[in-house]
Amino acid sequence: MLTGKNIILGICGGIAAYKTPHLVRLFKKAGANVQVLATASALQFVSELSLATVSRRPVLRGLFELEGPGDEDKTMHITLGEWADALVIAPATANTIARLNAGLCDDMLSVCFITLRPDKPVLIAPAMDGHMYGSPSVRRNLSALAGQGCLILEPESGDLASGQCGLGRMPEPEAIVKALVAMLQPAGESALKGRQVVVTAGPTREKLDDVRFLSNYSSGKMGFAVAREAARRGALVRLIAGPVNLATPQGVERIDVESASGMLEAASRFFGECDLFIGAAAVADYRPENPVKGKIKKNDEEMELRLVRNPDILGEFSASRRPGQVSVGFALETAGGIGYAKEKLERKRLDLVAFNVSDGATTGFEVDTNALTLIDREGHVTELPVMPKGELAGRLLDAVEPLLPRR
Ligand code: CTP
Repeated sequence: MLTGKNIILGICGGIAAYKTPHLVRLFKKAGANVQVLATASALQFVSELSLATVSRRPVLRGLFELEGPGDEDKTMHITLGEWADALVIAPATANTIARLNAGLCDDMLSVCFITLRPDKPVLIAPAMDGHMYGSPSVRRNLSALAGQGCLILEPESGDLASGQCGLGRMPEPEAIVKALVAMLQPAGESALKGRQVVVTAGPTREKLDDVRFLSNYSSGKMGFAVAREAARRGALVRLIAGPVNLATPQGVERIDVESASGMLEAASRFFGECDLFIGAAAVADYRPENPVKGKIKKNDEEMELRLVRNPDILGEFSASRRPGQVSVGFALETAGGIGYAKEKLERKRLDLVAFNVSDGATTGFEVDTNALTLIDREGHVTELPVMPKGELAGRLLDAVEPLLPRR
């Protein structure tokens, strides 16, 4: 499963570190070469000798180690990042998560994170007390790392070392290995390899005047995750993005737009040639009829705003597409709105619609997780439970791949 893969396992100082010798054994059993990097406090929880014995390599700790895997002619902190096929950080503590997000380089693990080749996957398995995991700073740091393309493996619920019961337990080593195998799955097996894919993402802004606009809370995270995953599977991806604060996924061609009209103009350039169109953008359905030049000045009167309909980008693609071009849309509804999602599948002539409900906490706009119900034209319904948007993007594309015509 992992034959010949070079895996760096970064271990941080949390009680779940006691499970890591077993994790190393599972990686080795799957055929991988494993180099353990331990933070200073990790070795308070797990013995260096155990890790070195099971990995068959010395554990690397400080910044100034001289010997390790990789090119002997280069310094260790550079060679490690080049040697690795994947970096797994398990357990990842709140402290290390903050340091990685801040870009600090004060131990071997943080340096390795920075020097890792950008196309190599990073899997982070946070484990900590439930209150810590839910704290705004941990959420913010994890969210930023997920935005950079790291896969965050959600902790499990259960009894915690703090004496509490809740979310925060590191997933079992078997689940970590499974997630890594999925991440390293060769793109050659994907039906998306070499296909042209267009993804729309984020909100649109519809100008009222030169300093104000109408928009919505979409962060673009779901669309960016889909674009990243499609590129990872070997597709040629064009990401048409509304105004969002996200890094461009590796290997993706990004076109920034502002309004629905701008999004249609950019997207329609690829209507003819794309194999798959995924509308993940939260496009404003209406725009001010007459945006004002300069700034609207207030007076004592009430103000009436006349809005006109925006073009339906996904609808226009579906209406003009050739046989074989696949069209996928999202439908954000309130609870119980699955009927509307089915109606959207028909009205927009989609092959698949991904229905989701925004609860403001674990699903919908801005958050890092989501849950989807996928409905296809044959009426098949697939429920995908709450999971990180990166993982969900993979599950969505798994469902889309069989819809593409065979080559
Ligand atoms: N979409 C689009 N262009 C628009 C509006 C929506 O491409 N002008 C796409 C979205 O990217 C998404 C799907 O269509 O894939 C959502 O459909 P829509 O009917 O607009 O959803 P809502 O706005 O949520 O629907 P409604 O307001 O009718 O509930």
